[in-house]
Order: sequence, then C-alpha cells, then structure tokens
Amino acid sequence: MSFPLYAPAEEHDMLRETVRALADEKIAPHAAAADENEEFSWDVYKALVAADLHAVHVPEQYGGAGADALATVIVIEEVARACASTSLIPAVNKLGTVPLLLSASEELKMRYLKPMARGEAMFSYALSEPEAGSDAASMRTRAVADGDSYVLNGTKMWITNAGVSEYYTVMAVTDPSAGARGISAFVVEKSDEGVSFGPKERKLGIKGSPTRQVIMDNVRIPADRMIGAPGTGFKTALATLDHTRITIAAQALGIAQGALDYAIGYVKERKQFGRPVADFQGVQFMLADMAMKLEAARQLTYHAAAKSERAMNGEPQKDLTFLSSAAKCAASDAAMEITTDAVQLLGGYGYTKDFPVERMMRDAKITQIYEGTNQIQRMVMARQLLK
Ligand code: CAA
Ligand code: FAD
Repeated sequence: MSFPLYAPAEEHDMLRETVRALADEKIAPHAAAADENEEFSWDVYKALVAADLHAVHVPEQYGGAGADALATVIVIEEVARACASTSLIPAVNKLGTVPLLLSASEELKMRYLKPMARGEAMFSYALSEPEAGSDAASMRTRAVADGDSYVLNGTKMWITNAGVSEYYTVMAVTDPSAGARGISAFVVEKSDEGVSFGPKERKLGIKGSPTRQVIMDNVRIPADRMIGAPGTGFKTALATLDHTRITIAAQALGIAQGALDYAIGYVKERKQFGRPVADFQGVQFMLADMAMKLEAARQLTYHAAAKSERAMNGEPQKDLTFLSSAAKCAASDAAMEITTDAVQLLGGYGYTKDFPVERMMRDAKITQIYEGTNQIQRMVMARQLLK
C-alpha cells in the first residue's frame, strides 16, 4: 500500500533554511523601497540568480536546479515572507514555462528554458485581456497563419513582469469558429517587431513587480514557436494553472508567515497597562487563530504540491484541479485575514509605513484575485465536485 507523501523531507527543511537566510540578508532590506518606489529590483534578481533560486523548477536536462513542486513552493514561500513582489520572479518564471514543460517540443524547451535557467531571461504568461479576465476563453487576440509564420494582433492585460521578461507565453485565437478549442499557445519574444508594453499599472500592492499590457501589432513569429498542436492552447493554459495556483498559495503563505512573525515579536515588546500586550488573552487567542489558519492552508498547499509533482512526472492526479484551487483559495483567504489581524495587533503603528505589516496586508490582497479570483476557484472546485 502506498500513501501520498507530502511531509517535507530533510532536504526541504534545509532548503527552507538556506532560502530564509538569503531572503533575510539580500531581499528583505529592499522590500520597503521596492514598494515605495514601485520598482523592480535588478539587484535582488541578480541575488536570486547567484543562488540559483530564480527559476528552481526548471528540470536539470534544461540546465535548471530540478526542484520538485514542494521545493519550489518552499522557495516562493520564503522569498514572499521577505518580499511578495520578489516572490513573483520564481513564481511567474514557473507560470510562463509550465506550458512548455507540459506541451512543447524538445527543441522549443531547449531553446527557451536554458537561457531562463542561466538567469539571462525571465518568462511571463499572457492569458488575460481587457475584456477577458475570468472568462479567459472569450479572448480576442488573433494569431493568423501566413506561410511558415503566424501573425499576432491583440492586447494582453495585467501581465506580471511585462517589460522585464524577455519571453512571453501568449494564448491567441487561431480558429474563431471553434471557441476554447480554437485557441493556441505561442512563445513571443520581447524583441519581436511589433511588441510593445503599456504603462505600469498603479497598484495597491506587489508594487515591486511591474504589471503592464503586452500589445502585439502585426507581430510575425515563426510557426515553430507554437506550443503543442493548434487548438490546444486553452487546455494547456488551464492545465498550467492546475500546477501554478499552488505557487500563488505559496506566495500567500509566505506573506502571512511574515506578518505573523512580525506581530509575535511586536506584542512581546509592546507594553500597555504595565505589561507586554502578549500577556492579554485577547491577543493570545488572535495569535493562535492566525497560526492555526496558516498551518491548515500550508498543509493543503503541500498536499497539492505533492500531487502536482506526481502529475508532472506522468502520473495523472484526478484531484489536482480541485486541490490546486482549494490551496490557492484557502491560503489567500488566510493571508488576507492574518495580515489584517497583524495590522490590528500593532495598533496605530501597524497602520503606518514605519512597520511592514501594512505592506503585507496590501500585498496579500492580490492573492485572492490573480490566477483566477477566489470566486472562480470556488466555481472550479464545485464543478469538480458535481461532475
Ligand atoms: N486542465 C486541462 N483542461 C481543462 C481544464 C484543466 N484544469 N479545465 C478545463 N479544461 C478544458 C475542458 O475540458 C474544455 O475542453 P473540451 O472542450 O475539449 O472538453 C476546455 O478546457 C474549456 O473548459 P470549460 O468549458 O470548463 O471552460 P470555461 O470557458 O467554462 O472556463 C474557467 C473555465 C475555469 C472559468 C477558466 O476560464 C478560468 O480558470 N478562468 C480564470 C482565469 C485565470 O485563472 N486567469 C489567470 C491568469 S494568470 C495570472 O493571473 C498570473 C498571476 O497570477 C501572476
Ligand atoms: P472579472 O473577470 O471582470 O471579474 C470581476 C468580478 O466578477 C470578480 O469579483 C470575479 O470574481 C467576479 N466573477 C466573474 N465571473 C464570475 C462567475 N462566473 N461567478 C462568480 N463571480 C464571477 N493575467 C495573466 O494572464 N497574466 C498575468 O501575469 C497576470 N498578472 C496579474 C497581476 C495583477 C497585479 C493583476 C491585478 C492581475 C493579473 N492577471 C494576470 C489577471 C488576473 O488573472 C485577472 O485580473 C483575474 O483573472 C480576474 O479577471 P478580471 O480582472 O477581468 O475580473
């Protein structure tokens, strides 16, 4: 009899210690400035590359670290504990390239995964459009075959790391009469003629990660940049999200852990009524609830990661779609509650930019929205239950 093993192995615990040390030393000191200045930090990117943590999921045969799904979650979690914006580097590098890992030719994988593994290029994932967010299949971006090329026209909206990424996995309609089965996936390069970017969106949180439109105006690319067969792009896009909603759960866990750790340190120091506020049972019960919600979400996320790893290794997991949506939903809802409570535990100081918990609360909010809103996650879960 075999049981699904998802408890972290010793190697995973060691990895966590290594990433936490690097994050405390090289990432946390930049977090407030990245938020304040709304700037992507190339110094932090270089620190991640130097430690080979920028795209840990890339298999060894493509020059990567070959981290399994749980190790990737742990890396994202620990980076997010220090800086949520920075955690989108390993997370979105994975999001942009899972379509290739699932469906691309060996040649395409070699061509695009190797430079990313070397730290020379980042990947973004371009599914959403101004009029097609939750209803992603209603996209309008067109890719028209022309000899040995495809010509792409359209605007992708909200693309994380747009402008700083060299490569983009773009979903586009190749057969308008076929609905979701008429969508194909392509690799588009930043340097392709006709690619441009909208201005940086002015956001509530994750301000150190640029979010921009990717605009394609008669972008001609070789036909061999299609990922998989024509018409399979939407399935590949959704199959990808089954793996990567788990990384957004990881980001949420990290943000929440950062806020909880900070709040625990604070309440032990802050004195009111002649004693540390940590002595009050009202405060203690809040901390207990925060830690309980966090640990429940973490176990669900790790369980989903174990399933993701098995699926990537060719063992289809029928409950992966449910579990990845459940993990993303549970972890992001927990992160919103925990970061809000952390602000509460710091009182008026928590509401100021002199302390990091208000940034964490703002950063947590996006995890309930992207890679599918939590309403969409609930819809995905319900469909799985009822089918
Ligand atoms: N894996 C593979 N294929 C799947 C699938 C999955 N998990 N789920 C559905 N499919 C297939 C279906 O079988 C169907 O194919 P057939 O017609 O061949 O059977 C096809 O995909 C269409 O499926 P649905 O009819 O279920 O599709 P739908 O139009 O009802 O939409 C949806 C489904 C769940 C709402 C989907 O559109 C969705 O997830 N929307 C949310 C969008 C989203 O998550 N965007 C994330 C953008 S990335 C991002 O935000 C980045 C970031 O965080 C940094
Ligand atoms: P809408 O779809 O317009 O939703 C509006 C509201 O209606 C939401 O509350 C939603 O939950 C609700 N709703 C919609 N349909 C239903 C339904 N059937 N049942 C119940 N409620 C429903 N996309 C990418 O492709 N790549 C990226 O890198 C990327 N990064 C992002 C980064 C940021 C900072 C942001 C804000 C977004 C990013 N996105 C990205 C897009 C993101 O995935 C979408 O914003 C998200 O899927 C929601 O789409 P929408 O914003 O159009 O909202």
